[in-house]
Amino acid sequence: VSARVVLFRSPLFRRLLGAVAALSLLPLAATAIGAALLLRGVARDATAAELRSDALLAREAALPLFRAGDAAALDGLAKRLGREIRARLTFLDVDGRVLGDSDHDPATMENHAGRPEVADARERGEGTARRFSDTLQEELIFVAVRAEPAEASRGIVRAALPTRTLAARLQAVYAGVALLAAAFGLAALLSAAISLGIFASAVHDLTEAAESAGGGGDGAPVVRRTTAEEREDEVGALARAVRAMADRLFRQIEEIARARNELTTVVESLGEGLVAVDGGGRILFVNGAAERLLELAAPPRAGAPLADALPNGEVIGLAREVLETGRAAEARLVIVRAQGGARSIEARAAPLGRRPERAEGAVVLLRDVTEVERYEELRRDFVANVSHELRTPVALIKGFLETLEDGALRDPVDGPRFLEILRRHVLGLDRLVADLLTLSTLEAGADTRPREPVALADAVGAVLGPFETVLAEKRLRLTRRLPDGLPPVLAHRDLVERAIRNLVDNAVKFTPEGGAIEVEAAARGAAVALTVRDSGPGISAEERARVFERFYRVEKSRSREAGGTGLGLAIVKHIAQQEGGAVEVASEIGRGSAFTLTLPRA
Ligand SMILES: Nc1ncnc2c1ncn2[C@@H]1O[C@H](COP(=O)(O)OP(=O)(O)OP(=O)(O)O)[C@@H](O)[C@H]1O
Ligand SMILES: [Mg+2]
Repeated sequence: VSARVVLFRSPLFRRLLGAVAALSLLPLAATAIGAALLLRGVARDATAAELRSDALLAREAALPLFRAGDAAALDGLAKRLGREIRARLTFLDVDGRVLGDSDHDPATMENHAGRPEVADARERGEGTARRFSDTLQEELIFVAVRAEPAEASRGIVRAALPTRTLAARLQAVYAGVALLAAAFGLAALLSAAISLGIFASAVHDLTEAAESAGGGGDGAPVVRRTTAEEREDEVGALARAVRAMADRLFRQIEEIARARNELTTVVESLGEGLVAVDGGGRILFVNGAAERLLELAAPPRAGAPLADALPNGEVIGLAREVLETGRAAEARLVIVRAQGGARSIEARAAPLGRRPERAEGAVVLLRDVTEVERYEELRRDFVANVSHELRTPVALIKGFLETLEDGALRDPVDGPRFLEILRRHVLGLDRLVADLLTLSTLEAGADTRPREPVALADAVGAVLGPFETVLAEKRLRLTRRLPDGLPPVLAHRDLVERAIRNLVDNAVKFTPEGGAIEVEAAARGAAVALTVRDSGPGISAEERARVFERFYRVEKSRSREAGGTGLGLAIVKHIAQQEGGAVEVASEIGRGSAFTLTLPRA
């Protein structure tokens, strides 16, 4: 039912059916009307011919009475014959006076001389007319002949029939023709409706199938099969062709979508930021990394003009340059971050498309080089620091060597003294080089030796031994708090000892005479924490953040006097990291400092 409703709502169906109806029914109606008109003419002619033969036969019977001039007999004949031939008969004399009439009394009838059929019969022997009869008050067909063919003066015989009789007969014929025409018309319409319906519903089905088409995946048809396709005619062929075409089209669209998705995934997973624009400088694509690097508040809409979509004038300029010149370009940008700090970005832009004179688009790749730059700076600083640290002792050594060569060597007092100074500087140099080596090995992470359980009490004991003389000289009180049940740590024993030695060395070095130093250790969860505490000058908060940097010294002169180069804590930090632990500092100016080294438990 719904299919039929759909069919009648279909404009295609309605229009085609209308055209077919007009084409088939109009000629049919015209033919029927033409046939009816033709029939009426034929029927009138036939009636006239019938009436003529009636008149001629009546003349045969009436001629003797005309000759005899017997009007009463003529009237009797008219009445008798008229009944038998079922037509009106009238006998007239040459002047038009009625002698006899089948339907009326001649005495009451007017003169008929002026009637056209009567006049025609008198003049030419015969006359026919169709007109309204005043006597009978209806339309009749009249045929009149001379009573004697060769002689006009004898009188006139006239036969007549009302057209009503003819019309009644014709009515039946008309009805038959109309019925036949209607039947043919209906049949034509019905068959047209059926074939048009098949066509229209096939088109409708196909449209619906195409509209509901979706991803079929793995070669399955994506457009639903319709019954129209099973037809063997052109409609079936069209349906099959359309579905095959739609299938191909949908597959291609799917393929394109998949390829696009893959590309998007690849581009999104890039660590580098990517901005693609078309030849008109409109955004094609901006990946997540670019959004983050350029700190865009919202992902830019595809198709948005470059200048609206990106806040960064340098990126816009770079893309424009590439679009105009068609050549690749590079730039370094600094992006001030919303949460403070700045980011260095290396931007490389390249043209899209093959025409060299004008690019069809441009791709800008953005790489965060903040870290790289920081490392470069660190390396430069490091080289500068190392050179600086080496220059002073080397210059001193050179100077003392020259003095010794100039004769001081043979001086009994200055000779040994200068040699002693030389020895101290060489030792300092040696220590510096050794520290640098240690740092670089730690940084390279090249230590592949296995870790072993190390008892911290043993390590602390080994470290503290050599400090006894200095402690005594500076009258520093040393307290050890290492509980008996302290669990061992898993580490490299030499590195652990090195870290402890550096911490104790600092405590001893920076704590003024008569101060106190504490070395204590305690288990802390899965780790063991070792703290070296002193009653020294303490370190300010801002310096606490930097003391672990290489070559950093709070008070350059004081530390250098003490023979330090600022590498000790950097080494401690690297050791802690290498061993899977950490080092931290707590301090209060004037009260002392506490360095805590945590190492994983064995
Ligand atoms: N216990 C401490 N009390 C006060 N300041 C300290 C303490 N430990 C370290 N510092 C400060 O931190 C700086 C860095 O220490 P670090 O051990 O790295 O270098 P250094 O001791 O000067 O030289 P090096 O250890 O190479 O001989 C020191 O110069 C010092 O100013
Ligand atoms: Mg030190």
